[in-house]
Amino acid sequence: MADLYHLAYVSDVMLLQPDEEPKQTLVNSRLQSILETAAKNNQKSDVTGALLFSGRHFAQVLEGPEAAINDRFRLISQDTRHHNVTPLLYEPAGERQFKGWSMALCVPDDLDSPPVIANSKPSPGSVEAGNLGRGIVASLAAAIDKRARKAV
Ligand SMILES: Cc1cc2nc3c(=O)[nH]c(=O)nc-3n(C[C@H](O)[C@H](O)[C@H](O)COP(=O)(O)O)c2cc1C
Repeated sequence: MADLYHLAYVSDVMLLQPDEEPKQTLVNSRLQSILETAAKNNQKSDVTGALLFSGRHFAQVLEGPEAAINDRFRLISQDTRHHNVTPLLYEPAGERQFKGWSMALCVPDDLDSPPVIANSKPSPGSVEAGNLGRGIVASLAAAIDKRARKAV
């Protein structure tokens, strides 16, 4: 079987420090910087995926070789630009859902049914976590598919 895993997690956004003015331009430039680093590193390690940014929460799907996913997630989970990083799903994947996207950015408006990411997240490994993770993969994959069809 091909070495392809996917991982989904949710977290709480911390793009601004408590003492910083809540400026949208600052948030946007910090988000942009995350995406640039993600694209550069993911391309090098054959990782693809999507990042959902709702303003309060991130939800991210990474897919690729198992070792590369683990390497990326180890760094991501220690990143201070978000907190309460809660892994939801980590399992072998049949095929890539985000082929060609080193890291696609999505916002809730792109999604037909945005996942409900409450402040109390399901415990990792629970049935609820798996269901939320699979829901996030499916709705982000559908949004990317729609985007690709629009582009042709
Ligand atoms: C929400 C979020 C998503 C991220 N996604 C990725 C990613 O997909 N790939 C990646 O390499 N780094 C990602 N990062 C950045 C990593 O946490 C880390 O800063 C980076 O991998 C370090 O790379 P560098 O050593 O090239 O600076 C993300 C960070 C955050 C806060």
